[in-house]
Amino acid sequence: MTTDRALAERTARTAGIEVRPVAGHIGAEIHGVDLAGGPDDAAVAAIRAAVLRWKVVFFRGQRLDHAGHVALARRFGEPVVLPRRGKASPPEFPEIETTADRLELGGRFGMEHDEWLRRRRHTLLRGWHCDHGARVDPPAATILRAETVPPYGGDTTWSNLAAAYAGLSAPMRSFVDGLRAEHRLGVGYQPRPGDDAYVRHLLDHQIASEHPLVRVHPVTGERILFVNGYYVEQITGLSRAESRAVLEMLVEEATRPEYTVRFRWEPGSVAFWDNRATIHLAPSDNAHLDFPRVMHRVMIAGEVPVGPDGRPSRPLTGSAPGRW
Ligand SMILES: [Fe+2]
Repeated sequence: MTTDRALAERTARTAGIEVRPVAGHIGAEIHGVDLAGGPDDAAVAAIRAAVLRWKVVFFRGQRLDHAGHVALARRFGEPVVLPRRGKASPPEFPEIETTADRLELGGRFGMEHDEWLRRRRHTLLRGWHCDHGARVDPPAATILRAETVPPYGGDTTWSNLAAAYAGLSAPMRSFVDGLRAEHRLGVGYQPRPGDDAYVRHLLDHQIASEHPLVRVHPVTGERILFVNGYYVEQITGLSRAESRAVLEMLVEEATRPEYTVRFRWEPGSVAFWDNRATIHLAPSDNAHLDFPRVMHRVMIAGEVPVGPDGRPSRPLTGSAPGRW
């Protein structure tokens, strides 16, 4: 089979839009749709199917404004209305969270941004996370659009957690199938000596939940290896040492390069991911660069995860289903 024909056969064309896979296990570019123009029902169905199949999809050259961004999210579910947002978020759109300046975050807690990052980096894979994974009902999906991007650096990478689960050996799959784990905001943070404003912030905003270590996807039925380097504190019932070793192995599995796709942002780029079936790596190569990077995010409300045994996640502190 020629390469062209092979590609054509893998490229799905529905409703005038084209879905082009970009990596072996995850990621597809979607062409032929104007997100600001209000995609019709058939296009919405095609995008939804592509997100479920490829876990993250990418659009280029879009002209979405805040209202269009929220309207787009509404076609796929209920946008999350955030109670607390950064200073840069547009006040008239409570669904939109704007990341305007990474350097602002550490400053909020009286630290250089670099120090704040360093104190939070309890493992080398820490940057890998799903959005709001310590909540009892993490968002189902995130739609992120780029306004201003650096000329280089600042890419985002996603990993497919269904593929990671499927790639485990059969004995390991049955071992993890029955486990649960505590996910918590602020895991592994190394406090500053004396009064640390970030520790106070964490205590005031504690969020923790017990999630199944393997989640059954509510739409596709796939089993998802529900781990990340950011929120997972401890596997329930294992000793601290056992839990640390097993988690390290699982997070390494979950971030194996073959399960990932990396995206180079341009102004007008949009990434739309299934937050239940993926983790993503926040950019870590641009903190030392002095380029602005302005991104806007809308999340779509999700449900309480359920394990293979049918048991749902349970809140430990700080979150209740549907209440942000
Ligand atoms: Fe994120």
